[in-house]
Amino acid sequence: DLIVPYQDALNLLKARLDVLNHSMYGNKSHPIHNIQFRIKQKASIEEKLKRMDLQGSFMNAKEHLQDIAGIRVICYFEKDVELLAEQLRKQSDLILVKEKDYITNPKPNGYRSFHMIIEVPIYTSTGKQIAPVEIQIRTIAMDFWASLEHKIYYKFEGNAPEYISRDLRECAGIVGQLDAKMLSLNEAILEAKEKQEHEREEKIREDEHH
Ligand code: GTP
Ligand code: MG
Repeated sequence: DLIVPYQDALNLLKARLDVLNHSMYGNKSHPIHNIQFRIKQKASIEEKLKRMDLQGSFMNAKEHLQDIAGIRVICYFEKDVELLAEQLRKQSDLILVKEKDYITNPKPNGYRSFHMIIEVPIYTSTGKQIAPVEIQIRTIAMDFWASLEHKIYYKFEGNAPEYISRDLRECAGIVGQLDAKMLSLNEAILEAKEKQEHEREEKIREDEHH
């Protein structure tokens, strides 16, 4: 029962993200590649509280953890990440608790992603409740890097040899360049497509004229 509000908050946010996904660029294209969500496992909650020198009780979790409910939104392009965060910020009944822009300021290990903690209003039969959700918004390329880094981190339990950490940082740089290149490629594609369509319409008009 204790996790029900977190589950509700996830479902409500998921619906809002779906609406943004199909409305942001009309029916031409979509910003979101996929959405993942999870409720933090009891063991991870206890582990995190322990790290914070707190007892593993539900009251402590509710009071101190803002990532019991988590959503990961994987976008195609860096621009989409920005626009989605902006759209969520504009929804006036959501309370933005915290933002961390690891895209403008990557973590020392190279990690890039946009994080938000958002409080979601939940209207139940007994009234209004609020539950926080951690939202991570990132591109496919950022997710690719983060997944590998996570794996390596766990393999070495945080003590990876320096040359491996260095190579991983270097990969983060390459992934960042890839994102920038893909974004400008997409812009070039859209521009070329528009030009083609324009020329086609011109041609039809000319043919009609003759
Ligand atoms: P946590 O105690 O890990 O929740 O960190 P935090 O409360 O300081 O929040 P932060 O925004 O830094 O990180 C939240 C979540 O982002 C983590 O639980 C991970 O899922 C993800 N994350 C943050 N840093 C890294 C990283 O260096 N590598 C990977 N793979 N994921 C990260
Ligand atoms: Mg966390």
